[in-house]
Amino acid sequence: MTATTAAAAAYIVAGLLFILSLAGLSRHETAKSGNAFGICGMAIALAATVGLAARSLSAAAIALLVAAMVVGGAIGLWRARRVEMTGMPELIAMLHSFVGLAAVLVGWNGYLSVEAAADGALLPGAEAGIHSAEVVIGVFIGAVTFTGSIVAFLKLSGRIKSNPLMLPAHNLLNLGALAAFAVLTVLFVRDPQLWLLALVTALALALGWHLVASIGGGDMPVVVSMLNSYSGWAAAASGFLLGNDLLIITGALVGSSGAYLSYIMCTAMNRSFISVIAGGFGNEGSAAADVDYGEHREITAAEAAELLTDARSVVITPGYGMAVAQAQGAVAELTRKLRDKGVDVRFGIHPVAGRLPGHMNVLLAEAKVPYDIVLEMDEINDDLAGTDVVLVIGANDTVNPAATDDPTSPIAGMPVLKVWEAGEVIVFKRSMNTGYAGVQNPLFFRDNSRMLFGDARERVEDILRAL
Ligand code: TAP
Repeated sequence: MTATTAAAAAYIVAGLLFILSLAGLSRHETAKSGNAFGICGMAIALAATVGLAARSLSAAAIALLVAAMVVGGAIGLWRARRVEMTGMPELIAMLHSFVGLAAVLVGWNGYLSVEAAADGALLPGAEAGIHSAEVVIGVFIGAVTFTGSIVAFLKLSGRIKSNPLMLPAHNLLNLGALAAFAVLTVLFVRDPQLWLLALVTALALALGWHLVASIGGGDMPVVVSMLNSYSGWAAAASGFLLGNDLLIITGALVGSSGAYLSYIMCTAMNRSFISVIAGGFGNEGSAAADVDYGEHREITAAEAAELLTDARSVVITPGYGMAVAQAQGAVAELTRKLRDKGVDVRFGIHPVAGRLPGHMNVLLAEAKVPYDIVLEMDEINDDLAGTDVVLVIGANDTVNPAATDDPTSPIAGMPVLKVWEAGEVIVFKRSMNTGYAGVQNPLFFRDNSRMLFGDARERVEDILRAL
């Protein structure tokens, strides 16, 4: 068996392992084995690729390759070990930007080694055209992914504001950029000039930046999965250019699964898929006016403990603040205590609570909260009106009644947990600050709501002591 055939066989095995990995990752119970399949697939793919490349490389080049892998692997391990769960989406956004950058570099390398090579066109007519198209398309998708992911990283890590940038005629700008790309692609395929490729790169970098900058905070979860999809297509484009089947398969898997995840999330949040992938297309950036909702009321931990002891049913709706405070252990302990006293305690989980899909479920599972009392938003929403007390622990946007009551709100139409329908609502947060979407929450000023200010974990522990 030649080395090429062995590598092709290894690629097929790796491709199958990636498919098994995706299937495993789609369910809680099988997620760990899904991860293991992915790791095995990637190890096989890497070994086969390095083995194949090593045949035509000098010893010095192999040493450089190994050194790059060791340094990259060490940085990856270090970052993965240090990252907090709440920092995952921004880390993922940063990793997507690397995929985009790699696709741009592969495209430029393809151009420099074929179209711009000193000995002229190395490929026969039609093949030369296909090669040029692969170069320009790969560079375009890669550059859009690169800057789009950087903006997502900056927004998610709070380094820039998360509200949408609304340039005048922003939809026209995006459409114009796409039209210009189509024209430049035709010109480049006919005559692959350096300035054309440079122009496409600059255009795509600007478009990626603008697309994600135009999307508001509430839609960021969809943006992350959308960039995931873009990074997949960028990798597939590089695969065509390098003639690497595994890169094409993997890129297509990531591209299509990311697009499907974006679609599911848009449906769950009542957002238009086209609007989000087209950089807030049709979203004219209605900003909620500063409304005076009146005075809020406060509650002490001791009073909250009394309210909970008298309650028959309690629903807990956790959000990003529970993750920040690492309050899941104390919340699980409170749940056990209340259930021992005969109180019916359940959890209501919003699909985008926290900062990554399934964030709250992971935290609650880690704190050993039984699965059967952790319900999805749609499963619990109708029961909230008959609930005595709701504890909103570090959640804000996901329990905002403005989403249903105020058509001018930037989060209008997003389904939310209707906690205000319960008998009493206790909101655990540190201040009257807004949540991720930057929108004030009228829930805090309702007659049946009271604020329990402070770090969520400390306040839950205060209640536990009072109980
Ligand atoms: P948010 O709306 O982000 O609100 C979290 C609240 O927690 C804040 O208002 C904050 O108020 C409070 N908080 C922070 N640290 C706290 C602490 N130590 N103790 C107590 N409270 C604390 O949360 P949410 O309701 O979970 O909504 C999630 C938002 O993130 C949505 O807008 C969603 O679109 C967006 N998003 C979600 C994802 C995914 S996939 N889930 C990804 C990216 C973005 P104080 O500062 O006053 O304490």
